[in-house]
Amino acid sequence: MPKSKKPYQHLAAFYDSMDMDRFAVNMIDYTFRILRKFKYQPRSVLELCCGTGTAATMFAEHGYEVTGVDSSPEMLKAARKKARSKRLKINFVHQVLPKLSIREGKSRRLKKFDMATCYYDSLNYLLSEADLKECFTRVAEHLNPQGYFIFDMNTYHGLKAGWAKMTNAGVRDDLGWVWKAKLHEGEPMATLTAVFFNKKGRHWERTDEKHTERAYPNSDIKRFLKGAGFEIKGFYRAFRFHKPDRKTGRIAVVARKKD
Ligand SMILES: C[S@@+](CC[C@H](N)C(=O)[O-])C[C@H]1O[C@@H](n2cnc3c(N)ncnc32)[C@H](O)[C@@H]1O
Repeated sequence: MPKSKKPYQHLAAFYDSMDMDRFAVNMIDYTFRILRKFKYQPRSVLELCCGTGTAATMFAEHGYEVTGVDSSPEMLKAARKKARSKRLKINFVHQVLPKLSIREGKSRRLKKFDMATCYYDSLNYLLSEADLKECFTRVAEHLNPQGYFIFDMNTYHGLKAGWAKMTNAGVRDDLGWVWKAKLHEGEPMATLTAVFFNKKGRHWERTDEKHTERAYPNSDIKRFLKGAGFEIKGFYRAFRFHKPDRKTGRIAVVARKKD
């Protein structure tokens, strides 16, 4: 019987060595292009679903004050280790979106940030409209007036033509993996089963993780953001500054909290 683990519980240890940290590096570059385009210079960042802390540490290296939030203790452990190895002071917090409550020191006041970010389709892990709406509201509560919220999400086309069509498989001396996703019938969702084989002496031990994502129509994402007190500054094909079309697999959103 394979071992079953929670999403990222097993993957955390291999995430960076499987090059999955590249995405955050590219998003940081794109985020700086966005900030230049909108002439906005944040000083503090709330990095949501921060994973192994790649973006959080890069923001901190640029001199920003950074708080990283994630629901996976294993991913946070890797993030803390990365920050320590770079001698960076970052506040990493274990919280599960859509709940979000970062306090100002020991006070009851919510801490406010100039910018919130959330990369690599992490918001697709919110599986109900109510959760996505609540998440946007909580993010807005943690932003200063005119603060920016920058994130990417998979579209339904992305789940259908990207996720569900590909098989990701590979092998190296210590690890083998086969990942395959399947669309849900009648729902804009897909579940990826990630199977890992880890070398344990002369044997290979199998561990499975399931990751479920939900896609939302662009019009709903915009409506939920507006309902949470944001104005939409940019709604793009990820890594570009063009409008998304029917074939866009990943969108990037630039939202600004209203005064
Ligand atoms: C694809 S990884 C992306 C990690 C990081 N943003 C990056 O770009 O490498 C998704 C991350 O979202 C986190 N996550 C998923 N659902 C979450 C939730 N409800 N609340 C907080 N974090 C969540 C996972 O633990 C994981 O670290």
